[in-house]
Amino acid sequence: MCGIIGAVSTRNITDILLEGLRQLEYRGYDSAGIAVINNQNNLQLIRKLGKVNILAEAVKHNSLHGGTGVAHTRWATHGNLTEINAHPHISSNIIVVHNGIIENFQSLRQKLFKKGYTCVSDTDTEIIAHLVHFEQYQQGGKLEKIIKMIIPQLSGNYSIVIMDCLNPELLVAVRSGSPLIIGCGVGENFIASDQRALLQVTSRFIFLEDGDIAEITKTTIKIWNKIGQIVERPETLSKINNNEELYQKKNNFCHYMKKEIFEQPLVIKNTIESHINYGMITMAELGPDINILFSKIKHIKIIACGTSYHSAMVSRYWLEELAELPCDVEIASEFIYRQSIVQKNSLLITISQSGETADTLSALRLAKKMGYLGSLTICNIASSTIVRESDLVLITNAGIEIGVASTKTFTTQLTLLLIFVAYIVRLRKMNNILEKNIIEALANLPNRIEKILLLDNYIKKLAQAFINKEHALYLGRGTLYPIAMEGALKLKEISYIHAEAYAAGELKHGPLALVDETMPVIIIASNNKFLDKIKLNIEEVRIRGGQLYIFAEQNICLTKSNEMKIISLPNVEELVAPILFTIPMQMLAYHIALIKGTNVDQPRNLAKCVTVE
Ligand code: AGP
Repeated sequence: MCGIIGAVSTRNITDILLEGLRQLEYRGYDSAGIAVINNQNNLQLIRKLGKVNILAEAVKHNSLHGGTGVAHTRWATHGNLTEINAHPHISSNIIVVHNGIIENFQSLRQKLFKKGYTCVSDTDTEIIAHLVHFEQYQQGGKLEKIIKMIIPQLSGNYSIVIMDCLNPELLVAVRSGSPLIIGCGVGENFIASDQRALLQVTSRFIFLEDGDIAEITKTTIKIWNKIGQIVERPETLSKINNNEELYQKKNNFCHYMKKEIFEQPLVIKNTIESHINYGMITMAELGPDINILFSKIKHIKIIACGTSYHSAMVSRYWLEELAELPCDVEIASEFIYRQSIVQKNSLLITISQSGETADTLSALRLAKKMGYLGSLTICNIASSTIVRESDLVLITNAGIEIGVASTKTFTTQLTLLLIFVAYIVRLRKMNNILEKNIIEALANLPNRIEKILLLDNYIKKLAQAFINKEHALYLGRGTLYPIAMEGALKLKEISYIHAEAYAAGELKHGPLALVDETMPVIIIASNNKFLDKIKLNIEEVRIRGGQLYIFAEQNICLTKSNEMKIISLPNVEELVAPILFTIPMQMLAYHIALIKGTNVDQPRNLAKCVTVE
């Protein structure tokens, strides 16, 4: 995680760096810092614990000024949340900002200590500054050469930007695992962890590749690849359009998360419409030969993390039931460290909102060497590393999601996965009616979601009962089991209440022991083949005094009791039920967090984009 930005210009870049940090805050917000070299080559450094606005406030009182600088927003990996551990880190004239982890930093620290360097922070970053300073002092020479010398000493995944007060005309950047993008200006150049930080100044970008080292001055950009050859990386125009800017405004909502929950009818509609042509599903973006590849598929492997893993879980039900394709889903961080067997003619699918999740990216890179038919990613960020490294790409049209807890990107992932499954079914000529049914069910979905959003006040009242709770249990079956997991994850993430989700059939195999009159049990009840079984689960909880919150389609008949709250939802086609039932789960978590007064959009300890293992 962590967000990096750097600039070399003739104008004062302080405000550009601060605005960039605001855009990068989704990557971490434990602390923030800025370093600018002034006209006399003196360093002006400010670091603050907490969010970027605290740093911005401090900058206002210190009037920083200069044309070369770097800034950073931190998600802590090494060292406590303190000001001293905030970036940038310095060693005399050398200033470093860093994203990622230097795994061997303890041994390097000891070596540096023997050479007379004492670290003032507990971070792995500070040793980079000292290493550069030491080599510069010993060998002299250009900054880029010194950095090439120290890179073999560093192990781990990282990106770094280095600035030298003795030579303030340039920045040197290294990409080794974590993303770095150069923003090209006129008489000025920039670097950052993502494009959004730099859209304020340019729309022309160069994506560094792994192992690249870049030297950036006001008028030149030189890039060396991992074997030290000078390379030309293509300059591209940003695909982020004006619509994206709309998604960055909070409008009248008090939180991005609420706005993003309420945007779901629109973005789901957008995702559907971009894949339906003359009443038929189209996968045009996958190219003309896609049917040849798809017709070879005998197995699908899906890899993802967190919320994206939950959408993978739902799609396994769809793929096996509807397309009769064997499917395995796996958490990326497990996949990368175990010996797995590739099934014959297996397509690899990664699912990622950000397209930068380190575990999912590592899994993709590993899987590409393993003999899968090809790699398809379902992602919300078209310019992300996972998109650029995948053979095939399907983009969810959710627009930028700012709340750390994923909402609209999850439901658009599900929408796109269902469309994908319908396409595969048509291709395998198994069922012509299914595609029609799916299109119809999807078409009705945005209206039904609108109806659920009208329950906002009712769910807000229900949320009151949770504020003193420390635990909650979520139950669902079939495709709604992953939705129970997603509901529990939302509650944990933003309200800090411990929540567990179970396949409802597992209740009597252990978790029932947790149920007493203090335990809220959230049950998702759909009018499907599991209904009678879910009713039994409801009874099992009821007779043990559990506090039941049943989210049920309105045509379901339930025997009411005092301990039971029934949240009546529109009837829905079974195929799209997981998408619909997700919405009240998000709303419940949101209102509980709101009443508890937590930071809904930026929950403690989390970041939107997990770029470290
Ligand atoms: C979701 O609310 C979480 N913020 C988190 O679990 C997230 O889904 C996970 O880190 C995966 O992210 P990705 O979809 O960007 O790969």
